[in-house]
Amino acid sequence: MNILVTGASGLLGGHIVSRFAGAHNVTGVDRNPWWGERCIQFFQGDLSESAFLRDIILRSSPDVLIHSAGMIDVDGCENNPDQALQSNVEITSTLVENTPPQCKFVYISTDAVFSGASSFWQETDEPKPLNVYARTKFEGERATVKASTHLILRTNFYGWSSGRKKTAAEWLHQALRDGEPINLFDDFFTTPIYAADLARCLEATVNSGYRGLLHLAGKDRVSKYEFGLAMGRLMGVSMSNVRRGSLAEAKFAAPRAKDISLGTERARALLGFEMPGCEQGLRRFLSDQAKPLSQR
Ligand SMILES: NC(=O)c1ccc[n+]([C@@H]2O[C@H](COP(=O)([O-])OP(=O)(O)OC[C@H]3O[C@@H](n4cnc5c(N)ncnc54)[C@H](OP(=O)(O)O)[C@@H]3O)[C@@H](O)[C@H]2O)c1
Repeated sequence: MNILVTGASGLLGGHIVSRFAGAHNVTGVDRNPWWGERCIQFFQGDLSESAFLRDIILRSSPDVLIHSAGMIDVDGCENNPDQALQSNVEITSTLVENTPPQCKFVYISTDAVFSGASSFWQETDEPKPLNVYARTKFEGERATVKASTHLILRTNFYGWSSGRKKTAAEWLHQALRDGEPINLFDDFFTTPIYAADLARCLEATVNSGYRGLLHLAGKDRVSKYEFGLAMGRLMGVSMSNVRRGSLAEAKFAAPRAKDISLGTERARALLGFEMPGCEQGLRRFLSDQAKPLSQR
């Protein structure tokens, strides 16, 4: 199959490219350089330039287009709503409009579409986004529905990036390793999945032929505090530097939903395997630190 991945140089995009590149003809596009070892067709440029976007679709002739590019800085989106709209909605719409009808359009969405007032949100639950990031990602979902064959994947993930932009898990790992003081919220809950595990689940979902909306996330609902303690325990470091903090006390530009844990029963039934638990994912994350992308 011909597979086109947008945001290919990002945390998730890199893992997706690497996952598919062994068995498929993969093209990546990003405004930053490709950092994996796999040899792929790669275009560097900005997807907000419609002529560039159209040209890449023509040149890659995708059977599957995985749209992972987006503006992910939640407070940045709140402060620059026009930029968030362009990145998360308008680019998605332009991609959908230019995708050949036989191509499956896969949109990477977020757990943040939910209000946070419940736990283990299901695909049938009504989204109620609380901030600009979440609203624009949800509008991106609505734009995606216009693609004749589409897959909308809501998730929450962590992993090792190219190093260009440190991820939250990399920051946490460094603080735990160096004994730097850290404040972790005990009232903010997610179901995180390791990026390499997510790429594997995404591949299985694409291969299954499933269409529509699906939650792909970890099995366990954990607070950021529990997640940090689990990582520290597995690293075998002292955690005297870890302070129990509260989302309620934090001052962010964008309001945050408190509990955006995702229910993954539909994914388990579809894929025939359980989503990885928190500790299982963290073990893989830690053991993959020094491995090249293609071996994760
Ligand atoms: N991280 C999470 O836990 C999480 C949770 C749920 C959903 N998601 C979604 O998952 C997707 C991937 O997230 P990620 O964490 O892998 O983000 P990431 O590391 O920032 O990867 C996204 C990549 O796309 C690039 N990009 C953005 N806009 C572009 C444009 N107009 N033209 C070309 N390249 C562009 C980014 O470049 P710049 O770095 O220069 O912007 C970056 O290299 C996003 O759609 C995000 O909303 C993330």
